[in-house]
Amino acid sequence: MSIEKINLLATSNTKINGCIDVPGDKSISHRAIIISSIAHGRTKINGYLNAADINATINACRAIGADIKINNDTLIIDGNDLERTHGDNIELNFGNSGTSMRLMMGVLSAQKFSSILIGDESLNKRPMNRVSNPLLRMNAIIKTSDGTPPVTIDPIPFIKCVDHKVGIASAQIKSSIMLAGLYGDNSFRITTPRSRDHTEIMLSEFGCNITIDSDSIKMEPGKLVTPDIINVPGDISSAAFFIVGSIISNNSQIMIKNVGLNPLRAGLIEILIMMGANIQITDVKKVNGELIGTIYTESSTLNGIEIPKKLISSSIDELPLIVLAASQAKGKTSIRNAEELRIKESDRILSMIKMMDSFKISTDEFPDGMNIYGGTIRGARVNSYGDHRIAMTALIASLVSDSDILVEDCKNIDTSFPTFIEIANNVGLDIKKHD
Ligand code: S3P
Repeated sequence: MSIEKINLLATSNTKINGCIDVPGDKSISHRAIIISSIAHGRTKINGYLNAADINATINACRAIGADIKINNDTLIIDGNDLERTHGDNIELNFGNSGTSMRLMMGVLSAQKFSSILIGDESLNKRPMNRVSNPLLRMNAIIKTSDGTPPVTIDPIPFIKCVDHKVGIASAQIKSSIMLAGLYGDNSFRITTPRSRDHTEIMLSEFGCNITIDSDSIKMEPGKLVTPDIINVPGDISSAAFFIVGSIISNNSQIMIKNVGLNPLRAGLIEILIMMGANIQITDVKKVNGELIGTIYTESSTLNGIEIPKKLISSSIDELPLIVLAASQAKGKTSIRNAEELRIKESDRILSMIKMMDSFKISTDEFPDGMNIYGGTIRGARVNSYGDHRIAMTALIASLVSDSDILVEDCKNIDTSFPTFIEIANNVGLDIKKHD
C-alpha cells in the first residue's frame, strides 16, 4: 500500500507474529550506488532499497555520467572510472535525504561543472557546513547559505588530499571527505570517533587501499574496480520497528532474516539485551564485507537503564524506538550524549518528548537527551513532524496503547521504508489511512 494520505490510524492492543524480510539497508544502498557510479566497470546491486532517499542518490549519480538501469530490486550501474565529468550547470534536489546530499557534496566537489544542491523543507534546515568545511580544506569551491542548503559547488583544478580531524562521530562527514579524496593523488588520514563504516567497507570491496584503526582511517586514492556484484543486506534500522514492537507487546514473536549486523549499527540490540530483552541471533556470515544474520525476538520484560555513551553512535537512528521501549520498562531510562538527535530529519529529542507527553509518559528533557519513566501509553493524536522514524515509532506504540493512535504527517515513511504498512499489517498491526 502506498501512502497517499498523510494521516495514519493504528488500532490499539494487537500482537505481532511472523517471519519477515525487510528492505535493503539505506546506508549501504547509497554507498553501493555512489561507489559503483565512480568505479571502473559494471556493478550489479541486488536488494537495494527502492525508496525516495535512494532515488535522490540515483538521480545525482546520473548527473555525473553513471549509466544506471533499474530491473526490479536490482540496479545495473556502469561507472565513470573516476572521470571528473564536464557538463552544464545543474540543480539537484535531494528531497529529504541528508545522506545523499552530504555524500554527493564530496563527489560533486571534484567535478568540472557547477551544481546547486537543494532539499525539502526539513533538509533545507539541516547543517551542511560540517561537510563543506573539510571540503574547503581540500580545495573545493563550495558555499552554503548560513551553513544550510542551498549548497553551491564550482569546479576546481584539483582536489588536495590533506589530513583531517573530525570531532563528531558522523559517517556522513567522513564519507564525504573519503569520496572527495578519491579524486586526489596522495594518501591522507581522517582522525575521528568511530561511526558506521559502510563507506570504508564498500571502498575496500572496490579494491581501495584503506586502513582502519580505533580512531583513524588512512586512505590512498587509486582506481576503483567493480567486484561485479553487491548484495545489500536488510536494513537493521527498518527491522528495528518490528524488533521493538515484538519485545514490548504480549504474545509476540518475530523472525527477520538477512539483516545487516554491522557492530557499528547494532547498538539497539546491545541496549535491548541490557534492558532484559529476549533476542537470538543466528546464521551470522559476511557478505561483501558486511556482517549479516537472522534476528529472533519475542515478548520480554524490560528494565530501565542508563544507555552507555559508547552505544549512542551505533544506535543513533534507533533512539526514538529506545524511548518507546523505555516507556514500557520498569523504572527510569536515561539517554544522554545524543545531541546529534537535535539535527536529524526533525529534532528527535523534542519530537519524542512531545510524543511521550501525548501518550502520558513522564520524561525529563536535556540538551543532549532525555529520561523516560516507564508507564502506560494512552492512545492519542500525535505529530510526526514529517519525520519518517518518528511516524513509524508512533505507529508501533499502538501495540501497547490503551486506545488508538492517530499519527499526522506520515508521507515521509516512503523515504526509507515504503513497505512498512504492508509488512506491519501482515504481522498483526492494524494501520490504515485516516482523514
Ligand atoms: C548515515 C549516518 C548517520 C545516520 C543517518 C545515515 C549514513 O548520520 O543518522 O541516518 O548513512 O551515513 P550522521 O553521519 O549525521 O551521524
